[in-house]
Amino acid sequence: MKLKSIFLLISLFIGLLSCDYRPESDLVKTNMSFAKAQLRGQLLKIDWNGKIRNPRTILDNGETKFVSYQDWTSGFFPGCIWYMYEMTGDKFWKDNAEKLTKSLEAAKDITWHHDVGFIINCSYGNAYRLTQNPKFKKVIIDAANSLCTRYSSEVGAIQSWNVDRGWQAEQGWDYPVIIDNMMNLELLFYATRLSNDSSYYKVAINHANTTLKNHFRSDFSSFHVIDYDKSTGKVRHKHTAQGYAHESAWARGQAWGLYGYTMCYRETGDGNYLKQAEAIANFILGHRNLPKDRIPYWDFDAKGKYATLRDASSAAIVCSALYELSTFSENGDYFRKMADQILLSLSSAKYRAPLGENNNFLLMHSVGSMPRKKEIDKPINYADYYLLEALYRKSNIQDEAYKMN
Ligand code: GLY
Repeated sequence: MKLKSIFLLISLFIGLLSCDYRPESDLVKTNMSFAKAQLRGQLLKIDWNGKIRNPRTILDNGETKFVSYQDWTSGFFPGCIWYMYEMTGDKFWKDNAEKLTKSLEAAKDITWHHDVGFIINCSYGNAYRLTQNPKFKKVIIDAANSLCTRYSSEVGAIQSWNVDRGWQAEQGWDYPVIIDNMMNLELLFYATRLSNDSSYYKVAINHANTTLKNHFRSDFSSFHVIDYDKSTGKVRHKHTAQGYAHESAWARGQAWGLYGYTMCYRETGDGNYLKQAEAIANFILGHRNLPKDRIPYWDFDAKGKYATLRDASSAAIVCSALYELSTFSENGDYFRKMADQILLSLSSAKYRAPLGENNNFLLMHSVGSMPRKKEIDKPINYADYYLLEALYRKSNIQDEAYKMN
């Protein structure tokens, strides 16, 4: 063999030994290169010169649906762009995230629904976390004040929806609280840390405890809506609004509960919340109707024509929550492996869009509201948000594991 070929072979061998080959991190890297290209395309679609509106989903006519600051999903796209900044350190994402976030400022005054938590935490919450810029801080506290106006000490919970407007007015409810509301508590914990005012924290734990008491069945699945009597705090109805039936386990509701109690444990260190999160995770992961790829049907108990439609958004929320839960739980290895498997499925061609398609959303196949016939088998911005958060959390866990080795 010629000297030159021997030299090449030796270099190749040394290269292989020293290269940082991590199959797991490849999943983060490949998803991130896809997200960079796909979301740059999404940013080009924003009307930067008009009133900025954030992309939510694809309408039946194929056009992107953009929403105003009042929409409950308006914070997810800015949140996606903050995660892109966090994962890349590239100022391009920061500049865009700031502009999108500022377009939501008026949402801090929303008092007519509970979603101010989702909207402000995903946008301003990430903005302040990543920049520590004081201009973002006040908005978070103002929004927490708005959310607390919906709290009743008789009920011990924050009211989710008003009952004098829209389809909610037709349900006969007095004080509806939905499991999704657990997600809004993160804003309150955040506000207490930023202000040293413990009143937000107290509202959050009261809400979490009331929900723990009334929303769950003995198998740790949850009802979607608990309707309380606002003057006595007694439970009037245990219902659903977005699930298949009152007694069924609506997939995204289970995901919100898992994420919510994992987050409550992070914020309080209360072992009851950790136990609840573990039990919900076991309900989801051990369910007889969970498909092999672990992307759930839109409702675990759905029947009929649409029973087998998947909900990628639930899978992404569960995936992100499991990564966090894995850092707290004695069963952490199991939960992390399950999160990895969900991430692998979401990254496959079955759920992740081809580059440049899907109106530049990352994931396909979510279900918004089957009973209201809205966003059935569509991309939705919150699926993308929790996918990116899952990637971020996975990369952190990996980095810790590699640091320890
Ligand atoms: N209401 C929030 C959701 O559709 O999950």
